[in-house]
Amino acid sequence: MTSMLEGKTALVTGGGNGIGRAAALAFAREGARVAVADYEAEAASATVALINQAGGQAISLSGDVTDAAQVKAIVDAAVAAYGRLDCAFNNAGIAPHQVDAAGLFTTDWSEASFDRMIAVNLKSVWLCLKYEIPVMQAQGGGAIVNTASIAGLIGLKNATAYVAAKHGMIGLTKTAAMEYAEDNVRVNAVCPGFIRTRMTAKTLEQREDQIAGRTPMGRVGNPEEIAEMVVWLCSDRASYVTGAAYAVDGGWTAM
Ligand SMILES: NC(=O)c1ccc[n+]([C@@H]2O[C@H](COP(=O)([O-])OP(=O)(O)OC[C@H]3O[C@@H](n4cnc5c(N)ncnc54)[C@H](O)[C@@H]3O)[C@@H](O)[C@H]2O)c1
Repeated sequence: MTSMLEGKTALVTGGGNGIGRAAALAFAREGARVAVADYEAEAASATVALINQAGGQAISLSGDVTDAAQVKAIVDAAVAAYGRLDCAFNNAGIAPHQVDAAGLFTTDWSEASFDRMIAVNLKSVWLCLKYEIPVMQAQGGGAIVNTASIAGLIGLKNATAYVAAKHGMIGLTKTAAMEYAEDNVRVNAVCPGFIRTRMTAKTLEQREDQIAGRTPMGRVGNPEEIAEMVVWLCSDRASYVTGAAYAVDGGWTAM
């Protein structure tokens, strides 16, 4: 059986942990050369070490995806390393507890928390698209996946700016998909449910049984289960798929 991404190159933001790391490993397993970008340089290097141990090819890049110059530098470095950019997984993100907004309803969020959430979880994706798409247009095409969330499809209490950012990200995804379809650039979103990562560690410690009980499949998900959808969306097997937002959530949004 041939690998799904043989000969392709991929960029993963937030590739140092969780879903991004699992996706970087899956990209490499499927034959892609991978640029692993993360705010935490050591975490990105650790992902690269795992890829190399498994016989794949990868480089690590560091930078903050909320900063235009740093996003441009990340994209430029990925293209300089591998000559082209076939796949991009715009995945870096944070949860409400990472902007001091854990457990807060809409009116209790501070302006600073709201602004930071929108910068990291929404503006960053626009910046990535801004610098990735011209590279893909120039080379004749490419595939982009943005990490939204079930919070991009439905409301979630205590997560107002997170929900707003993820809904906005799906709007960005659909619009870019329409604008660049004729350039053979596909843009999609993946919408994870509750996935076992560093981001959700505390929440799962406190109420995994409740979350699993609300999920039709009766459990939380693993990062590798999101990575499979991302790899497929970036592959030529998804050649007619663009502007879509796929839930990978154990059935959470079916209820
Ligand atoms: N874990 C879940 O249940 C879940 C559910 C739905 C959506 N998501 C989304 O999945 C994505 C990945 O989350 P995860 O659970 O793997 O979390 P994680 O904390 O394990 O990984 C996120 C990574 O993004 C990086 N990052 C954060 N801010 C950054 C910045 N400004 N610049 C560069 N890198 C930055 C972090 O350093 C980290 O390595 C996020 O967008 C998150 O919103 C997660």
